[in-house]
Amino acid sequence: MPTKVAIIGAGGMLEHHASGFLTAGAEIVAIADVNPESAAKAAEQYDVPVVFDNPETMLQESDCDAVSIIVPNKFHAPLAIDCLAAGKHVFCEKPPAMNAAEVRQMIAAAEASGKRLMFNFNNRARPESYAMRELIENGTVGRINSAQAKWIRRTGIPGFGGWFTTKAMSGGGPLIDLLHMVDLAMYFMGYPEPAHVLGQTFRDLINDTSFKGPWGIPDNADGITDVEAAAHGMIVFKTGQILMLQASWAEMVKREEVSVVFQGSQAGGKVERLFEKDGLDETAIDTCELYVQKDGASVNRTIEVEDCPDMGRSRSAANFVRTIEGSEQPLNTPDQALSLMQVIDAIYQSAETGQPVSL
Ligand SMILES: NC(=O)c1ccc[n+]([C@@H]2O[C@H](COP(=O)([O-])OP(=O)(O)OC[C@H]3O[C@@H](n4cnc5c(N)ncnc54)[C@H](O)[C@@H]3O)[C@@H](O)[C@H]2O)c1
Repeated sequence: MPTKVAIIGAGGMLEHHASGFLTAGAEIVAIADVNPESAAKAAEQYDVPVVFDNPETMLQESDCDAVSIIVPNKFHAPLAIDCLAAGKHVFCEKPPAMNAAEVRQMIAAAEASGKRLMFNFNNRARPESYAMRELIENGTVGRINSAQAKWIRRTGIPGFGGWFTTKAMSGGGPLIDLLHMVDLAMYFMGYPEPAHVLGQTFRDLINDTSFKGPWGIPDNADGITDVEAAAHGMIVFKTGQILMLQASWAEMVKREEVSVVFQGSQAGGKVERLFEKDGLDETAIDTCELYVQKDGASVNRTIEVEDCPDMGRSRSAANFVRTIEGSEQPLNTPDQALSLMQVIDAIYQSAETGQPVSL
């Protein structure tokens, strides 16, 4: 019997979830969206038999094993908790929630129900990340002492006054939205426990319409834009490892860059995406490299992997289905999501107080 998945939220990310679930052999049995037109359109595209205009009715009436949550960040925790309480496995979009306190509640709900809770940290599912993890696991890299995580956009504000730029809906700006590279760096580093965090956020350009990105959601003239445009920070882990981070939607940088660079005791490395056209994944220029010292000489190795324009999004959704079916190991755990949100919370706290935060 195929795994039956229901989807909440028929916005921009649904296509990647649907593609991954179908690739893994699952069946999409229902779609719920508060905008019934969006739900109906997606249902037609993916031949889904039932649509709902709210998630609550879907949970009561739909016979599904798992639910995929693809809605604005404010709704991640309450919906995940409802789904878990109804006995469903949950695949939730990033960020895991608005803050670490909410992630703790989600974890408690997962433990109470015995169901799987996973998050869409899709960059872990990129071919580059699989290749790099193998080099880390087989000892080629040694211990990663230090890393730098960046997702920086020069003109990438995803619309003004919509949910992305309203803190009460999103939890914050690029720091929380573009947390992928911080997650990927911590994943490569073995998800060490954070000890101290120091950060700063900047709002200079957040209301400048010339910094709007080529994607996102429509502007809402009556809406609120109260999040940061850029964030910088440093995390020292209990192991002594250290991570620097930079995330921006609007910042005076040359071009969009998405990267994790690390320095290990045996080798350094880089997973990087640049763009011919900022923000358009189909114009990606991906690089995966390893830096070693061999026979007294510096050697840079290019790691060849297959192209993956969607940044692992479909593969990540497939991993969720295969995990609940028992044929793959999960690409992420709730404890890692908690640790990541603690770091994000601490950077916002440090920015607000001007003080380092100890965890
Ligand atoms: N992993 C990635 O690469 C990636 C990329 C973009 C967005 N995201 C995440 O995906 C989530 C959704 O983003 P998006 O770009 O698809 O947003 P979107 O605004 O395009 O779509 C959200 C959809 O959810 C619906 N919705 C809102 N509240 C709802 C509710 N309470 N119940 C049911 N439906 C509801 C809206 O009507 C809309 O159709 C966000 O958490 C975002 O951070 C992830």
